Amino acid sequence: MKNLFTTVFALSVACVTALVTPVAQAQTPNAGASGNPGVPAVPAAPGPGPAKAVATPASPKSLEAKTAMCFGCHNIKGYQASFPEVYKVPMIAGQGAKYIATALNAYKTGDRKHPTMRSIAESLTEQDIADISAFYENLGKDQRKPVADKPGREPSSQVAGLLQKANCASCHGANYSKPIDPSYPKIAGQYSDYLFQALKAYKTGSSPAVGRSNGIMGAISKQFSNAELKAIAQYIGSLDGEVETIPEPRLHKH
Ligand code: HEC
Ligand code: HEC
Repeated sequence: MKNLFTTVFALSVACVTALVTPVAQAQTPNAGASGNPGVPAVPAAPGPGPAKAVATPASPKSLEAKTAMCFGCHNIKGYQASFPEVYKVPMIAGQGAKYIATALNAYKTGDRKHPTMRSIAESLTEQDIADISAFYENLGKDQRKPVADKPGREPSSQVAGLLQKANCASCHGANYSKPIDPSYPKIAGQYSDYLFQALKAYKTGSSPAVGRSNGIMGAISKQFSNAELKAIAQYIGSLDGEVETIPEPRLHKH
């Protein structure tokens, strides 16, 4: 009898835990039930919140909770980061999900040093990253026009030479918006000051607070002076692109 009481108590604790953190539920071992054949297994507890829209990978509510902290920076047009340097917070709506996930994982592991994004990414689980990345890839999709295959404006002859030297188009696409691999970014139309910052970050590699230790882009950006990187960033940022900043009011249609 005492044994059964302990078991029931353990089960109710497990249920409470499940209500508080749905993720923990899946990992909570069936505490107490082993060795007690008479005790039924923990029933699959329904998640918190209303039982609608279950078929999606994440319920709208939890996705909202996951993305809420991103909106204050990534969903305000022209919002500037002020630390460690001043430049605009990158546009991530319309960016490829695979690249978004790659970037978040790079902050999480420290391959990218930006302190704020590191601490944010560290708080995300693999599932959070998958859900958030899919959300931003699709954000604004129905209103977005695909960009033309060729850039709408020609670079200066100086910039044309620089782009050719490292063959940027061979990976980022002829219009810089069609990367050859989904884990590579769309860069056309991204904020120029952010592009410049990113290129300098690859160049400085593992330098604290600003570095990015990507092997491919590290080797490429080291071939250029900062003035050259800036000219490249200005041109690519001036092109039509698919990445954008979607202000928060447009997110809440309900
Ligand atoms: C305090 C402002 C702030 C918040 C909040 C924030 N970010 Fe960022 N994010 C930045 C800045 C600044 C950068 C550029 C960092 C760098 O230079 O590497 C960035 C970079 C990124 C990148 C890389 C973009 C690229 O083109 O490589 C992704 C992806 C990203 N953030 C996703 C998120 C997500 C998802 C959230 C919410 C979970 C979030 N961010 C919350 C400011 C913020
Ligand atoms: C061999 C393939 C390749 C070539 C060539 C290449 N890139 Fe990249 N680029 C990448 C990959 C892969 C990444 C993502 C790295 C990461 O995960 O941080 C990237 C990232 C970037 C970023 C960061 C974008 C962001 O949102 O943070 C910029 C800017 C960039 N590349 C510009 C260029 C420019 C300009 C050139 C030519 C001078 C170039 N790339 C040539 C593969 C390439």
